[in-house]
Amino acid sequence: MNITPALVQNEIHPYYQENDVIPFIQEKGIVVQGWYPLGGRGHTAELLGDETIKGIAAAHGVSSAQVILRWNLQKGVVVIPGSSNPDHIKENTELYHFTLTEDEMNRINALDRKAKGEGLPFCAQIKIPLDAPEKAFVRAWNLVVSKKLQYGAALRRRAETAGDALTSYRAREMLRLLDEVGKLAAFNYYFSLKALDHMELTPDGKLAVVFLSGIRLTI
Ligand SMILES: NC(=O)c1ccc[n+]([C@@H]2O[C@H](COP(=O)([O-])OP(=O)(O)OC[C@H]3O[C@@H](n4cnc5c(N)ncnc54)[C@H](OP(=O)(O)O)[C@@H]3O)[C@@H](O)[C@H]2O)c1
Repeated sequence: MNITPALVQNEIHPYYQENDVIPFIQEKGIVVQGWYPLGGRGHTAELLGDETIKGIAAAHGVSSAQVILRWNLQKGVVVIPGSSNPDHIKENTELYHFTLTEDEMNRINALDRKAKGEGLPFCAQIKIPLDAPEKAFVRAWNLVVSKKLQYGAALRRRAETAGDALTSYRAREMLRLLDEVGKLAAFNYYFSLKALDHMELTPDGKLAVVFLSGIRLTI
């Protein structure tokens, strides 16, 4: 390819930040534009209600939406919120009378869950002691299996719309495992492990179980 694109659009919001990709594209002189900045139409409640974002918004006397949009602008990302509400449209343009501090930017950066998709269906909260990671994994897996229908729909959507083959493959593989688990006579720990991508500590000291497809449960 010998024509440099002027602009690249990507899903970008505090739960799906693309922090490694954004500077890589910008360094090539290409504008990065973020869509679904508020989580996507009909699915904004979790992001706009996020305690960290709400706290930062209160400190500046602005809304959660304005904090998210301003966070994008301070990263040099062009942002395109959708709205059919005139008050929201006006609010979404009022982003230049406040500046997020470095600490506030970092606190929002720490919210990244690498969770893509409408309604952020890949996130959930369950409570398990940190000293029992195997138990945490089994509880998380059982939770995913118990919500097989909901996750199945999201996984199918991800498999069909993923921009890259690996993401699509992982979503299909996760679908296959969820389908097969229903045929097992009893719980099988080693079978379940096939669905595990990795476990990680979140910046606030919680444990996150991340499955093959990006389904991520924080404990
Ligand atoms: N290139 C791609 O593949 C791609 C994919 C998806 C989306 N997009 C584009 O990205 C843009 C945004 O997508 P989107 O509209 O689905 O997602 P969004 O901007 O993340 O969310 C829109 C939702 O946020 C609400 N909202 C907007 N401003 C608000 C405010 N100040 N306070 C509270 N709620 C607020 C809106 O409700 P109200 O109407 O009530 O304000 C609407 O329900 C669109 O132009 C879309 O076409 C591109």
